[in-house]
Amino acid sequence: MAFPESFLQELADRNDIVDVVSAYVRLTKRSGANLFGLCPFHSEKTPSFSVSPDKQIYHCFGCGKGGSVINFIMEIENLSFPDAVEFLARRAGMEVPDDGDRAQRDRRGRLLALNKEAARFFYGALTAPEGRPAQEYIQKRQIDPAVARRFGLGFAPDSFYALTDAMHAKGYQDFELIDAGLANANKNGRGVHDVFRNRLMFPVIDVRGSVIGFSGRILGDGEPKYLNSRETPVFSKSRNLFALNLAKKSKNGYILLTEGNIDVVSLHQAGFDSAVASLGTSLTPEQARLISRYSGEVVIAYDNDAAGQKAAQRAIGILEQLELKVKVLKMTGAKDPDEFIKAKGRDAFANLLQASENHVEYRLAAIADKHDLQSDEGKVAFLKEASELIAELPSPVEREVYAMRVAEKCAVSKEVVTGEAARVRARRRRRAEQQQSRSAVRELRGAVQPKDRALQYENTRSALAEEGVVRLMYLDPALLDGAALSPEEFSSPMLGRLFGILQEKAASGAPLSMAALSGSFTPEEVDHITALLQKPEVLSNGKKALSNYIDIIRSERETLHAQDDLRAYAQQIRNKKGMVDKHG
Ligand code: CTP
Ligand code: MN
Repeated sequence: MAFPESFLQELADRNDIVDVVSAYVRLTKRSGANLFGLCPFHSEKTPSFSVSPDKQIYHCFGCGKGGSVINFIMEIENLSFPDAVEFLARRAGMEVPDDGDRAQRDRRGRLLALNKEAARFFYGALTAPEGRPAQEYIQKRQIDPAVARRFGLGFAPDSFYALTDAMHAKGYQDFELIDAGLANANKNGRGVHDVFRNRLMFPVIDVRGSVIGFSGRILGDGEPKYLNSRETPVFSKSRNLFALNLAKKSKNGYILLTEGNIDVVSLHQAGFDSAVASLGTSLTPEQARLISRYSGEVVIAYDNDAAGQKAAQRAIGILEQLELKVKVLKMTGAKDPDEFIKAKGRDAFANLLQASENHVEYRLAAIADKHDLQSDEGKVAFLKEASELIAELPSPVEREVYAMRVAEKCAVSKEVVTGEAARVRARRRRRAEQQQSRSAVRELRGAVQPKDRALQYENTRSALAEEGVVRLMYLDPALLDGAALSPEEFSSPMLGRLFGILQEKAASGAPLSMAALSGSFTPEEVDHITALLQKPEVLSNGKKALSNYIDIIRSERETLHAQDDLRAYAQQIRNKKGMVDKHG
């Protein structure tokens, strides 16, 4: 982290977490010193998202996310750390310091520039004589040259050094090509070679207009069909969507979600300019959140095969969590939107869109398909499963309407279905409440392990005391004066590191804030640290509590050493016995 602490501190001071969060979350409840609202990062009916005005942190008791105001902006606006800092600086009318995260930002800037150069190179290669095969493929897929240009399609030549050489000539170095995911190191350790070879290239452009990566489609058949840029400092498959840069400008009022880049191009060509595709992953919550910023409705137009339909079910769940309106397109006689449009034309596709079922109808139909509605058993099974689905619907009107549909299908009265759905809802509510209070209680008692396995405590008793020390220090740095505890005495390396940083700060008299710390820890660590800072600690008795904690830490260490000694002794005995056995 290269932003000066003092700058981050001022940034945090000028962006009160309650103000910032309130722009996204309605904080409707107060409990103790904390404000509560519905968590924006997972779907819930009762508020478990807490904001602490005193500690200037947020923490969700449901999904475990938490951190400083900077972490909140990173998460909700989908920004990197330096970009979130810039966002908040602008909000508060502050200047981002020149010597801020310059190196890091320069590196990102350089990677983006390299990606843009690479896109230019691929684009040029498409119209060069060597681009013939790709041109032919574009023609074969009936993509208009004008549309190919709109998408910036290109060609990666069938060579190991085409792009690499061209980028070297522009002054880019091997490590930059590797960082950008455009080249791999040669096996012999010398030099690099192109990742993308003999492929039709689709630049992936983010909503801010930067080329962040590529999808390369094989010309014709073969595996893998699509090769996407690997994860880089500027590209993440799960946080971006192909063509959202174009779709976000559409006037359609909905986003058309497809599987393939070719589907997207083909749909745009036919005038359906709100089509996007996920980049070789099934739809992720981050992608859904991104979509929800530009549109309130999604029409799923996945492939017609079993995999596509399964992916659609999954996507419905994810989109619904964000309260997006979801519809599903039902295509017959074609395997995907591209094929459908080529075979039946754009009007036929527009009709499909018109008739596209909302996801409830779609899912009810899928459930009905599973059961034999002629038999009594089949009817019962169908009614049960359908009621589970109806119970999920947030609006009572919707529940009535679909209950009626379901009842008609089985020739029973509507009340049978609404009654069953009400029972399911009551059961779910009870369960959610139980779970929530259980997890809240667990958090307060302190018996939480970090969610991330890599961070799990080896010695819980010591770690809880270490958490206590850190918490006290965070509340009142002066408390530790004179208590000669060192980071090496901590059983948890992460808590030790945190303690070391807090100690240094306290010594320099700098104020402490999570915001100033957030650059030094991974997002998983930040989640955990805020969770532990949220646990109550009584300051009035701080000195005593601190010395208790330190006693626990030290006695645990001694026990550990004693155990180690014992273990070593046992080993000695075994060794000796082994010798006796062998020789005896
Ligand atoms: N896919 C991928 N990377 C992308 C886009 C798609 O890995 N950038 C994967 C999807 O996850 C899906 C498959 O490729 O499994 C989609 O293939 P398909 O829809 O057949 O792609 P199209 O381009 O439409 O291929 P075709 O030309 O065969 O229609
Ligand atoms: Mn396809």
